[in-house]
Amino acid sequence: MGVEKRSAEDAAEGTPSEKVAKVQALQWPDLKTNLTHQDAWLTLNNGVRYPLLGFGTFKLDAKSTTTCTTSAIEMGYRLVDTAAVYENEKGLKPLLSVSKSNGKVWYQSRPKQSDMEPCDIVADYDQAKDCMVQTKLWTSKHGRSGCLATFNDSLKALGLLTKDRKTKTLVQSRPLDCYLIHYPGPKRGWPLKNKPDGKPGIMPEHWAGGKTRNETWAAMEDLYLEKRVRIIGVCNYSLRQLKELVENPDNRVVPHMVQMEYHPLLHEKGGMKELMEYCKEKNIMVQAYASLGGSEGLKQRNFSLTVDPRIVAIAKDAQRSAGQVLMRWALQKGTTVVPKSSKVERIKENTALFDFELTEAQMEAIGKLDRGQRLSWKGVDPDKEK
Ligand SMILES: NC(=O)c1ccc[n+]([C@@H]2O[C@H](COP(=O)([O-])OP(=O)(O)OC[C@H]3O[C@@H](n4cnc5c(N)ncnc54)[C@H](OP(=O)(O)O)[C@@H]3O)[C@@H](O)[C@H]2O)c1
Repeated sequence: MGVEKRSAEDAAEGTPSEKVAKVQALQWPDLKTNLTHQDAWLTLNNGVRYPLLGFGTFKLDAKSTTTCTTSAIEMGYRLVDTAAVYENEKGLKPLLSVSKSNGKVWYQSRPKQSDMEPCDIVADYDQAKDCMVQTKLWTSKHGRSGCLATFNDSLKALGLLTKDRKTKTLVQSRPLDCYLIHYPGPKRGWPLKNKPDGKPGIMPEHWAGGKTRNETWAAMEDLYLEKRVRIIGVCNYSLRQLKELVENPDNRVVPHMVQMEYHPLLHEKGGMKELMEYCKEKNIMVQAYASLGGSEGLKQRNFSLTVDPRIVAIAKDAQRSAGQVLMRWALQKGTTVVPKSSKVERIKENTALFDFELTEAQMEAIGKLDRGQRLSWKGVDPDKEK
């Protein structure tokens, strides 16, 4: 997993003894030049390079995560997004256990997890070792002790924390690439019960969202400053919650990224414009999820962005698929993307985003679909968390 490159970048990141991490300008590649998805990388505000295209794994079980991510890596993806709550981190373990033998490269051919079938996958060692992995802390694990314990659990699932035979101590084999807070609210179970009037429930006062959230962030900062993880960030934070984090004088690290729902139906309205502007001002990279319309919400509503006639018409003009148009739109709006697919042909299709450009008129026409509509997290606005 890119050990040499990482050491050089680690040096640029500073030492654990540094109290406050430096913030650099976010450096984007020029999307107008003829990039390929393999060389479309940006540089985050801590100097770490990060791919514009990643592979999402929401709704994939552990076995499909192994096979689909293997296909994705072979097709040039260099980032995979998972989460403790997806229960598929262990599906990435075989990929993180690549080894070189006899000049051939094999993923661990018989994973030990009982729920996984044996899989004999031959892959390119150099490709697999350079793939970055990002995972997330679930809402029930907010707070310092929750964060540190669940971080270790994720590392174990990913195969990055193993027992040293001699010393019997747990050893982290390499830094995790990226660790994110999944949701601002510390929840005990999901979804919250509705209020008697049928409106979505909000977090009870005693859960003290802001305080617990900040404790979680302090623990994430420690993990980062101890070099156990190379990139830290948050997901689904509203502008208010992000400001609370960034402007807290006790905090030592400005988030390197924010992952958020972002697509034509949700990009300016509902506070999204101001949130995007703030991230830009603070050099925080924005990663769009559900840029194709999501794995969950659309099916529930019997509606799909990829078959929306307005998107399909633009796709026809651009001689691209609707999915490619949606992702290119997100890239041109200044976000990175992590499309998920369980189908090899779509995993491939979703890489062809860097050899065409949407015109200003097409960008504008797609942007007009905005209605501030959330499709994920049952449509609840995370700003409701205190
Ligand atoms: N932080 C968070 O709270 C959060 C929330 C949601 C998602 N995420 C992350 O972001 C990733 C992406 O979001 P998402 O999975 O919700 O949704 P998405 O990537 O927008 O959409 C995935 C859906 O689109 C289909 N699809 C994929 N490629 C397609 C194409 N080219 N044309 C038409 N349909 C296509 C997939 O079906 P098939 O599988 O059948 O191809 C799947 O049903 C997730 O997998 C996850 O890693 C994070």
